[in-house]
Amino acid sequence: MIILGLETSCDETSAAVVQDGRRVLSNVIASQVDVHAPFGGVVPELAARQHIEAIGFIVDRALAEAELKLDDVDAVAVANGPGLVGALLVGVNYAKGLAFALGKPLVGVHHVEGHVCANLIAHGGLKPPFLSLVVSGGHTILLAVEGYNDYRVLGGTMDDAAGEAFDKVARVLGLPFPGGPEVDKLARLGDAGAIPFPRARVGAFEFSFSGLKTAVMQYVNKNPDYVEADVAASFQQAVVDVLADKTVAAAREFGFGTVVLAGGVACNAALRRKMEDACSAAGLAFYLPPPVLCTDNAAMIAARGYYALTRNGAGAPLVADGWDMDVFPARMVL
Ligand code: KG4
Ligand code: ZN
Repeated sequence: MIILGLETSCDETSAAVVQDGRRVLSNVIASQVDVHAPFGGVVPELAARQHIEAIGFIVDRALAEAELKLDDVDAVAVANGPGLVGALLVGVNYAKGLAFALGKPLVGVHHVEGHVCANLIAHGGLKPPFLSLVVSGGHTILLAVEGYNDYRVLGGTMDDAAGEAFDKVARVLGLPFPGGPEVDKLARLGDAGAIPFPRARVGAFEFSFSGLKTAVMQYVNKNPDYVEADVAASFQQAVVDVLADKTVAAAREFGFGTVVLAGGVACNAALRRKMEDACSAAGLAFYLPPPVLCTDNAAMIAARGYYALTRNGAGAPLVADGWDMDVFPARMVL
């Protein structure tokens, strides 16, 4: 089954063609970073307008790279939330128009579940059940994935998402937008043990990063001669320690033998290393996607769409959404 996936939930316009949920034939991603950089963050109205300008070209390119025509597409999958409402509407309405014109099924995909499915693309043999930590600019969430269509929230952040904390600390340090990758780079030059930034004590599988962000701001304000790389490395260590510790604890508590990392922050070198080490020490199998599948992309949406459409098994009618399928900008419930 050939699925055309669309992703426009934030500041990447992406279209991808994926076969049977696992084989990526194309994955075209147009970043809007240059448009938002002067503002130091994503401007929702500009994001929506950029998606409108780009989406037609991006879909054409995804088909061309896959060496397919629109008629070869068996279904259209689109991220319909959570995300920026105007941005989501562009992808969803484009997907509806396309699927309707082609007479093909349409399916809305939860963006966070899509992030998890990046791992199914990257690891052919990976199957649920597994525990997934999704860390991105908008989410920090621990998910019990019991089946291809069975996602349960075990815990999440009470305030800032991990990526949001990275981006805000980057701003405090005067690094360019988007800040996460910049903090990652700078941290490689610093001493992660230099500054004892706090690890929030909240519920067993909850996270809190806003206090850490404030601690970094106060440290910088009180120490005019601060060493930038040490601040970056010490902050990053505080985030990474908490993420890894709680994930391993959740795997133990809920009896998972496999841990899967996902989301844009999964590009972070220190997090990748720490999760690998922590899982290996705890006897857990560990998977993570290559960086291009960690940040927002449409291949992960197409992969998730495949499992949603075929949830009733091989040969059964596809489970599609109606033309009244809507966006859900803020709903976190999976
Ligand atoms: O998954 P994603 O592309 O978009 C959301 O769904 O939010 O994640 C983007 C987030 C941003 O906060 C970005 O700064 C962060 O992922 N990020 C990183 C790194 N690469 C991207 N954070 C830390 N280290 C990185 N290398
Ligand atoms: Zn995302």
